[in-house]
Amino acid sequence: MAPMGARRVVVVGGVGGLVVWLAQPVVRRAVQSIRTSSAPGVGVYETAAGLAFGGYYRDIAADCAAALVDVAAPAVLEVGPGPGHLAERLLDRLPGGTWTGLDIDPAMLSATGRRLERARSRDRATLVEGDVAAMPFAEATFDLVVSSLSAHHWPDAERGFAEIRRVLRPGARALVYDVPERWAHVETGHAGLRAAEASFAAHDRTRMRGIGPLTVIWRADLRA
Ligand SMILES: C[S@@+](CC[C@H](N)C(=O)[O-])C[C@H]1O[C@@H](n2cnc3c(N)ncnc32)[C@H](O)[C@@H]1O
Repeated sequence: MAPMGARRVVVVGGVGGLVVWLAQPVVRRAVQSIRTSSAPGVGVYETAAGLAFGGYYRDIAADCAAALVDVAAPAVLEVGPGPGHLAERLLDRLPGGTWTGLDIDPAMLSATGRRLERARSRDRATLVEGDVAAMPFAEATFDLVVSSLSAHHWPDAERGFAEIRRVLRPGARALVYDVPERWAHVETGHAGLRAAEASFAAHDRTRMRGIGPLTVIWRADLRA
């Protein structure tokens, strides 16, 4: 018969193994979520971004409104809207416009839908689950494509930007906001901004005001 100490080790080891085994799906989901959206879950991202990024989203909405000043009823596509903080502000700035959000994560789209319901602009919004690298839209559909903090999560960013070019109307612009290459490489290994600039004939990169003291965000203004 095994001594008391050894039996305790076996029991504790067994319980520990069971806990690790049961936690696997939760950990796997959290890791997947960090890979696509920088946070272990939609709720965490929605709360943190809402607290930290309000002024940043307002600046982007103002940029988009300025880019669309001559278009009476603009059709805007946002790629990777996450929980919809920018969408809410954009629809506010474009009362005659429509907004389509394409995101790979259905939970993010549900959060956007709830936010736009609360803001009473859900009727001008279309939510589409999909990958930027294969978008289910006809060519020349949108007057503007905007994307914020998403491009460095796209494994095939070249394909994604070719798709963005395809769905833009002739002469229309894409505004892409993202972290610099050095940061993107550490976080996901994909340099979204570089792929953006390689895919468009004309591009112009501007530094945005930072989010907090440590972060730097760049804006790439792209024209086919
Ligand atoms: C860090 S979040 C940014 C959310 C929001 N745009 C913002 O600025 O707060 C990245 C978003 O991009 C989406 N995303 C990641 N890869 C994608 C892909 N290949 N196609 C479409 N959306 C993608 C994620 O699901 C997530 O909602």
